[in-house]
Amino acid sequence: MPDITLNAPKLFDLRGRIAIVTGAGSGIGQRIAIGLAQCGADVALLDRRTDDGLAQTAKHIRDAGRRAIEIAADVTTKSSLADAVAQTESELGSLTLAVNAAGIANAKPAEEMEEDQYQTLMDINLKGIFLSCQAEARAMLKNGGGSIVNIASMSGVIVNRGLSQVHYNASKAGVIHMSKSLAMEWVDRGIRVNTISPGYTATPMNTRPEMVHQTKLFEEQTPMQRMANVDEMVGPAVFLLSNAASFVTGVDLLVDGGFCCW
Ligand SMILES: NC(=O)c1ccc[n+]([C@@H]2O[C@H](COP(=O)([O-])OP(=O)(O)OC[C@H]3O[C@@H](n4cnc5c(N)ncnc54)[C@H](O)[C@@H]3O)[C@@H](O)[C@H]2O)c1
Repeated sequence: MPDITLNAPKLFDLRGRIAIVTGAGSGIGQRIAIGLAQCGADVALLDRRTDDGLAQTAKHIRDAGRRAIEIAADVTTKSSLADAVAQTESELGSLTLAVNAAGIANAKPAEEMEEDQYQTLMDINLKGIFLSCQAEARAMLKNGGGSIVNIASMSGVIVNRGLSQVHYNASKAGVIHMSKSLAMEWVDRGIRVNTISPGYTATPMNTRPEMVHQTKLFEEQTPMQRMANVDEMVGPAVFLLSNAASFVTGVDLLVDGGFCCW
């Protein structure tokens, strides 16, 4: 007879936990931040947006009865991330959860791509994830451990047919392997690091001009015959962050409607 004193639904309970979410002013990061609050976490919201994106996320979190702070910062600036973590800890408490969703996408044929376009995307999508993990882990190591989820992409696993985005695909493959590497560096010090690799997901990122006409194609190419809704990223993130995933580290969780099977 197994020991059944374990309360399975409580595994997903994030009450009393403090989280930081980058890219929390829009799309996947925004929805995950609200989802973490719905599971009980208090959340620091970081984004470089100057519109009301962060305020909207914070309102939903406060409506759910949790605390939120808004931090306008850029993930490419190391000192801003250190300040953001310090502000999170002084205003909310000890940081043990992080979701790094800040990222950009654009496209251009490789033979025409300017160095600037390549470098700017790499700085945000790859270096930004590293600097975020570094700042978050410094706090988590002090706090006895934690869990980090980085948002990669199925583009780090496959090459999207019809999209000339060599820099984006390479950045996401980098995020997946960087996360495994960090997972192993911190495996004996209580920090788990995993990635979620979404398939095509309906967010503002996909309303950029070169993508709009492709939406129908994205749906047809996906085995489930549709794009993901941002709500569908919440469960995977809560799972990986929570005690339900206590033996899960260095994993890339594809959330792609079956895309990578075909
Ligand atoms: N939408 C998709 O189909 C899809 C698929 C796979 C992976 N992703 C990844 O999911 C993540 C979120 O994308 P989304 O679709 O929600 O896009 P989005 O544009 O709606 O949200 C991205 C957010 O990141 C913020 N951001 C960008 N650069 C930043 C910086 N330097 N510092 C701080 N904040 C910054 C933006 O201001 C924005 O609010 C990205 O990493 C993206 O690559 C998206």
